Amino acid sequence: MNETSRIDARTALNEALLARFGEEVSVPPDLAGLPELLQMATWSTHRSWSDRPVGPELIRLLAACALSAPSKSYLQQADIVDVRDAAQRERVQALVPSMPWMSQAPALLVFCGNGRRFRRLFERAGQPFTNEHLDGFFNPAIDGALVMMNFMRAAAAVGMACCPISVLRDQAQALADILQMPAHVFPIAGLCVGFPAHAQSVNPRLGLQASLHTDRYQRPDLASETEVADRAVDAAIDAAVDAYDQRYVAVRASRLPPEVAAAKPPMTWSQEKLRQYATAQRDDWGAFIRAKGFDTR
Ligand SMILES: Cc1cc2nc3c(=O)[nH]c(=O)nc-3n(C[C@H](O)[C@H](O)[C@H](O)COP(=O)(O)O)c2cc1C
Repeated sequence: MNETSRIDARTALNEALLARFGEEVSVPPDLAGLPELLQMATWSTHRSWSDRPVGPELIRLLAACALSAPSKSYLQQADIVDVRDAAQRERVQALVPSMPWMSQAPALLVFCGNGRRFRRLFERAGQPFTNEHLDGFFNPAIDGALVMMNFMRAAAAVGMACCPISVLRDQAQALADILQMPAHVFPIAGLCVGFPAHAQSVNPRLGLQASLHTDRYQRPDLASETEVADRAVDAAIDAAVDAYDQRYVAVRASRLPPEVAAAKPPMTWSQEKLRQYATAQRDDWGAFIRAKGFDTR
């Protein structure tokens, strides 16, 4: 990168992080890899797609890069299903009619955790499987999530865009049946993939003081007694969320025509999440996972 593009990338990264977090994040001037950091900092979920097709070879390339992710104990417990056959896609899409961006996407993948291969090693060797506990479910879930994130980064690197679809898990059993997932294989999320129809504005995140901790979770100036500390942590959470809510509303309002924003100010993030989760969601997930053969104790 020449000096001008380095300065441009650094400025753009500074601006992107300021917009994202509402605070300055310093970027050392001589750091390598600024374009990649900028791509991460400007991540956005997309839900509309250009007409440009996405063929199986491109998906295969991105999947190979994604599956190069690190893997817990090298167990490689993640799988990707490329749902390509029109009738299969129709069946999967029909599970979530509320999200038309799924049927419009050029490609639809389903990322899975796979605890079957690991178990099969033991079964084949005639040895008892000695790791039947919650961690045996958690590890494939993490591997699958890392592979999905890696896929999204690979897609972004070639100018593509994605939208994860965890709402597919509202119909976990039906999805597992359609995709013929065996015992110990479970869906993590769907992923719409395509070339974006247009640029997308970046959504703000909670300030770094809410999610980036140093040395210990509690602030070091707080009492160590758990109950007192927990209450102080809650006060810190409340302060961070209140500050974020203000920033969130300002960003949302700035995307509306002024008269619309004045007549009906956008909800805060807290209000949106309280409304979204006012009723229990996917409370049959534990039963589904246990029926898939995992012991979640
Ligand atoms: C695991 C996961 C599941 C998601 N599921 C859905 C979904 O079912 N439908 C959808 O439209 N977006 C879904 N999203 C996208 C989020 O809504 C999005 O990341 C969030 O609103 C923040 O927006 P941003 O990614 O553009 O910053 C999901 C994201 C993740 C990480």
